[in-house]
Amino acid sequence: MSLDIVILAAGQGTRMRSALPKVLHPVAGKSMLAHVIDTARQLSPRKIHVVIGHGAELVRERLAADDVDFVLQAEQLGTGHAVAQALPHIEADKVLILYGDVPLTQVETLSRLLAQASDSQLGLLTVNLADPTGYGRIIRDEAGIVQAIVEHKDASEAQRTIREGNTGILAVPGKHLGDWLGRLSNSNAQGEYYLTDVIAMAVADGLVVATETAQEEMEVLGANDRIQLAQLERYYQQRAARRLMTQGVTLLDPARFDLRGEVTVGRDVQIDINVILEGKVVIEDGVQIGANCVIKDSILRRGAIVKANSHLEGAELGEGADCGPFARLRPGAKLGAKAHVGNFVELKNAVLGEGAKAGHLSYLGDAEIGARTNIGAGTITCNYDGANKFKTVMGEDVFIGSNSSLVAPVTLGDGATTGAGSTVTQDVPSKALAVGRAKQRNIEGWKRPTKK
Ligand code: UD1
Ligand code: CA
Repeated sequence: MSLDIVILAAGQGTRMRSALPKVLHPVAGKSMLAHVIDTARQLSPRKIHVVIGHGAELVRERLAADDVDFVLQAEQLGTGHAVAQALPHIEADKVLILYGDVPLTQVETLSRLLAQASDSQLGLLTVNLADPTGYGRIIRDEAGIVQAIVEHKDASEAQRTIREGNTGILAVPGKHLGDWLGRLSNSNAQGEYYLTDVIAMAVADGLVVATETAQEEMEVLGANDRIQLAQLERYYQQRAARRLMTQGVTLLDPARFDLRGEVTVGRDVQIDINVILEGKVVIEDGVQIGANCVIKDSILRRGAIVKANSHLEGAELGEGADCGPFARLRPGAKLGAKAHVGNFVELKNAVLGEGAKAGHLSYLGDAEIGARTNIGAGTITCNYDGANKFKTVMGEDVFIGSNSSLVAPVTLGDGATTGAGSTVTQDVPSKALAVGRAKQRNIEGWKRPTKK
């Protein structure tokens, strides 16, 4: 059976108190709506229809994709009205309704729900709540068969004691949907066209309403304000931390670890507190990451060590290489096996060969540095003349004296040396010593100035 998915995302989200449309607020670095679309994709639908309204242009711009079809709901007249806007684009025999502000529903839960839907049956996802205030209530007869959903505001006192709430997530047979939506009325407490009214219509038409229950309440929680957004964030992070631990990662404190992207991990990886992983990160066996590191779009090869307070983006550490504490590796920083970058060293588009070292206080940009080369403290590659960038190339076994300025473009041959404090403006041949500094002179009997 083919599947169309409709995601409702037109609401304003007043309680966010934000200029940003609610569904664009992020959980784990990705907008809530993007989470829902990604989950929807895993169900291989024919088409994903996103109903937009408030902030429509921005939502469309941020989430445009070939498989996503945006439908405008100019006025928000209710969830039933919202789905009706997508109706002209729906062709499949099963339709799944999701919400742009309910980001963390598991694919497995939705698969179970879809298995319940057929031409003669609806699948309804419900949740048992400690406090069901605000939720539509699931009305069952004495035999336990679902009859209807009554919205909280329309419910009687007796109905309000029902703890089984409507998640809003629903799988319906496409062939009936148009008929039911066409018959919705807005004569209710909120004056809205309720999607939930299709349940009673389905029952009247002789269809069965089969329910599935979400395993965890957080899976079906929507974010109406920033407090709920933070709850979803924590739930997501707890799940991410648990998954990594089951894969062989030691997290010194799983409550102080944040994943804002995707990570693949090897075994016996150790991650200290307050580490943030962003984008796509690859961490191989035996890697150690110290406290307070931010690592984005980077690859850490087997046994690499990132010491505390380091910041990596678009970087690669070779096997057994190490950096930090307080290292800054910018895009294109690449350390060969066993290479070492120490504190207050910034690398950008710089490749260090096997065993090369830059221990302290350096800027190495647009540089190629050969194996075993040693960069003294305070070395700077002067790679930018204010208009263009130039490259610094060093061979193997080069020794750069402390506080050298290497004015690019410049090349230093294998085994070359620079004297401390040199400004190197010309290429240095292999094994030569470059001294580019004023010669020292001493003035005997020098009198220091005294205060007048
Ligand atoms: C809805 C359900 C309720 C359920 C609850 C779960 C209805 C009538 N009620 O109530 O049974 O327990 O969700 O949270 O469906 N939206 C639109 N266009 C509209 C109206 C809503 O896109 O015209 C979107 C909103 O942006 C929101 C979602 O649909 O993401 C739910 O709408 P909301 O008005 O918040 O419904 P609830 O009152 O929470
Ligand atoms: Ca709601």
